[in-house]
Amino acid sequence: MHPKNFIRCLFILLVIVVTLTGPIPPTQSQRANNIEQRINLLLRKMTLAEKLGQLQQLDGEANGNARPEHLEMVRKGLLGSTLNVRGAARTNQLQRIAVNESRLKIPMIFGFDVIHGYRTVFPIPLGEAASWDPVGVERAAAIAAREARAAGVHWTFAPMVDIARDPRWGRIAEGSGEDPYLGAVMARARVRGFQGNDYSASDRVVATAKHWVAYGAAEAGRDYNTTDISERTLREIYFPPFKAAVDAGVGTFMSAFNDLNGVPASANPYTLTTVLRGEWKFDGFVVSDYTSVEELINHGVAANGKDAAREAINAGVDMEMVSRLYNKHGADLLTQRQVSLNTIDEAVRRILRIKFRLGLFDKPYADETRESAAIFSSANVAAARELGARSIVLLKNDKQLLPLAKNLKSIAVIGALADSQKDMIGSWTGDGRSEDAVTLLQGIKAKSPQTRINYVKGCDIECPDAVGLEEAIAAARESDVAIIVVGESAEMSGEASSRNSLDVPGRQLDLVKAIQASGKPVVVVLMNGRPLSISWVADNVPAILETWFAGSQAGNAIADVLFGDVNPGGKLPVTFPRSVGQVPIYYNHMNTGRPPDEKNKYTSKYLDVSWTPQFPFGYGLSYTQFKITNLQLSAQKIRPQGSVKVSVEVENVGKRAGDEVVQLYIRDQTASVTRPVKELKGFQRVTLQPGEKRRVEFTLGPKELGLYNRTMNFIVEPGEFKIMAGSNSEDLIETKLEVY
Ligand code: BGC
Repeated sequence: MHPKNFIRCLFILLVIVVTLTGPIPPTQSQRANNIEQRINLLLRKMTLAEKLGQLQQLDGEANGNARPEHLEMVRKGLLGSTLNVRGAARTNQLQRIAVNESRLKIPMIFGFDVIHGYRTVFPIPLGEAASWDPVGVERAAAIAAREARAAGVHWTFAPMVDIARDPRWGRIAEGSGEDPYLGAVMARARVRGFQGNDYSASDRVVATAKHWVAYGAAEAGRDYNTTDISERTLREIYFPPFKAAVDAGVGTFMSAFNDLNGVPASANPYTLTTVLRGEWKFDGFVVSDYTSVEELINHGVAANGKDAAREAINAGVDMEMVSRLYNKHGADLLTQRQVSLNTIDEAVRRILRIKFRLGLFDKPYADETRESAAIFSSANVAAARELGARSIVLLKNDKQLLPLAKNLKSIAVIGALADSQKDMIGSWTGDGRSEDAVTLLQGIKAKSPQTRINYVKGCDIECPDAVGLEEAIAAARESDVAIIVVGESAEMSGEASSRNSLDVPGRQLDLVKAIQASGKPVVVVLMNGRPLSISWVADNVPAILETWFAGSQAGNAIADVLFGDVNPGGKLPVTFPRSVGQVPIYYNHMNTGRPPDEKNKYTSKYLDVSWTPQFPFGYGLSYTQFKITNLQLSAQKIRPQGSVKVSVEVENVGKRAGDEVVQLYIRDQTASVTRPVKELKGFQRVTLQPGEKRRVEFTLGPKELGLYNRTMNFIVEPGEFKIMAGSNSEDLIETKLEVY
């Protein structure tokens, strides 16, 4: 064939293919290029005021309405984002102003704290982490995203991936606990759940990794307090969940309130630019925390608002939440050359990039007809019940008191938390409503309808006096078993909710003691947003369930576990101390030169309390029993760049089907720097039938075996490693691996 004819034929063929299959979708890099070109076009048209408008986020009203005074700003292109405005009709109304009436028609991005659910509330994040079930956690985030996007929300300020080693800090409730590995797995799961593969989809939102960084290390556990952390601890403990979020494609970061090593996190070029953009190549945008730009003045690194704006934007904070200093001082800072036009343009570019990736320029509105069907659907509610039950940790079960039979004649249910709808859902409840929540009392009644339930509140959660004690004791005496629900109210954890005591508040412990003294079998159900010090309960009460704040379906989920319809398989994502004086107490500590030794006074311990935790990290029981044996390596020796397969057998040796979380830890025995006595490097939650046995496999390679050496290079050093596997961070079998 003549070459000309050949080309003609090819062309015709191509036309046929395109006609039949539709246009070839652009590749990812074509899409990215296209977005950058559209941003360039916009940047060329934007005035400085419009650019600064894109950098501004303002708060709507708590009920979800836009503030009337913001409408004109949107019309003039002076406001790029709001937080808390939600609901399809309300967001659409504001969006219409941006898209139809503003000069450049740039859509708004609506942010909201969708932390553990939008309307359907899942367990608090610490509880979700206790499920050790990244698939379930991803599903919960996906449901939250679907509900939120249906309500016009594009952007969630979650996941919070702050590591916390101090349970006095109330926001420990919002994270995944103390461990960087578990934290990274949960961070990844939540980012995937919120964003999916493409957050322009009508059932996804863009996520935020927050609070960058080290916010969870607040000194003395007091919220917003100073942090001072070595680069090693930052890189090994606090950074990994953030890095995992970046690797999972998270679209935005939030800069934290705290100062870090002398520089506030919202004005810290090292963390915001050198690490985040330089090392990790993050190309999304950073939003400040609520007024954290203005707070640079209180921190004492800025003399006034103008200084604060200069510091924050130059360090790498792109969008300012609530304070308005970029807007107020941007023009002056530019003329005085304290901020370059390039810096402003880059911040605008990053924000527009995420707006494009969200598809807002092509599809700015929420579908108002979809909203109500998408929200609080029965499928979503069922998923909340399932994850609620999977997050519950059985801490003690002497003589198999649990599960309870469904045909008991009578049960005493005692405690104010047992029937408190608002406390079931915890803090940061999105658009969740207490009236949607099922209390434990309701859950028990539904589960065991023939049983007489003797409910006595006893006293309030704060329980200042002994009112109600007698009545509670009488109810216990009249019943076959007493379930006492104790712990914290929802507001006792979360933001600005630090406590100096980890004890069960008020006189709730007296209530437990009195009922225990009645001689009836007692089950303590704990509800709380942080580890509590519960030594007396742990020593004296036969059965204890940790239920966190389990969400809209808390009561049903807890009842599922109490009566054995669900066999508990959750594990603690954080160490439970014996007393607050042990804090910070965490499993992955260094060995010290004088590790604790009962027989030697001059070793690292206390005179008045054991050095060991009440319940260790990774701990949790089941109604069945498991045996973990036969730990094997695919090689006894590997090179530093090599990897090894580790496997271990887990067998259900009890009589019920149940879940075990098989955990893998390592210890680098001798290195150029001190190493933790244990580091979690893998886990798997498996379900086994009675008698069933399974081999669970993990891989250890440079990423898991490496460390930051004295010059802060990440390498694997030759030497011996202890490899450990088991059902929690203390009950472990072990073997050795040599790196040569
Ligand atoms: C919190 C953030 C939250 C923001 C917006 C702040 O007070 O620290 O976690 O995302 O408010 O509600």
